[in-house]
Amino acid sequence: MSEEIRVTVAADADTVVARQKGRELALRLGFTRTDATFIATAISEIGRNIWTHAGEGEIVLCGLSEDGREGIIVIARDKGPGIADVDAVMRDQLSSDKGLGMGLWGARKLMDEVTIVSERGKGTTVTMKKWRGFAFDEVRQLLGEGGAEQRAPRLGLRIDVSNVAEALEQLEDTPRR
Ligand SMILES: Nc1ncnc2c1ncn2[C@@H]1O[C@H](COP(=O)(O)OP(=O)(O)OP(=O)(O)O)[C@@H](O)[C@H]1O
Ligand SMILES: [Mg+2]
Repeated sequence: MSEEIRVTVAADADTVVARQKGRELALRLGFTRTDATFIATAISEIGRNIWTHAGEGEIVLCGLSEDGREGIIVIARDKGPGIADVDAVMRDQLSSDKGLGMGLWGARKLMDEVTIVSERGKGTTVTMKKWRGFAFDEVRQLLGEGGAEQRAPRLGLRIDVSNVAEALEQLEDTPRR
């Protein structure tokens, strides 16, 4: 794992810090701005859950590299009362009318994986992961180094890999012989 960021969460302001640090890390890891916003929103929800349902806890953020995939992992831990029925809170769209009200249900939609380990009276750990797609530079590399740029002349194309979107469109629109 790469750099690890820890935020102690005991108040609303800490959730804001966790959210901002999550967004910054996601962007550094090459997530799109949209994905970085989704990640930040999911962090907000579990951060708010820590201080509203457990009082205090911490959020750990880290880059993730697994089976050739790159992503982000968010771990929220507390020693609060725990969740009685984890399956129910994952399945049902509960809302307290506070904040955005997306809750754990929303976090599950925004992230790729969410797991909850909780024990009554001992606390809760929520682990969320999200994988990122190809970053701009990676696509450019694929198109360039021995890829589409080399094959393009055979298709009668002159592609410019510095403009990845345009290069992809040109290749898509060209019939293969
Ligand atoms: N860290 C936690 N510790 C103890 N209970 C929790 C924790 N996180 C969630 N819960 C329990 O799971 C339920 C569902 O959480 P969820 O975030 O989905 O909804 P909510 O917090 O009730 O509402 P909202 O998030 O919309 O304000 C909560 O009502 C609470 O009972
Ligand atoms: Mg909540």
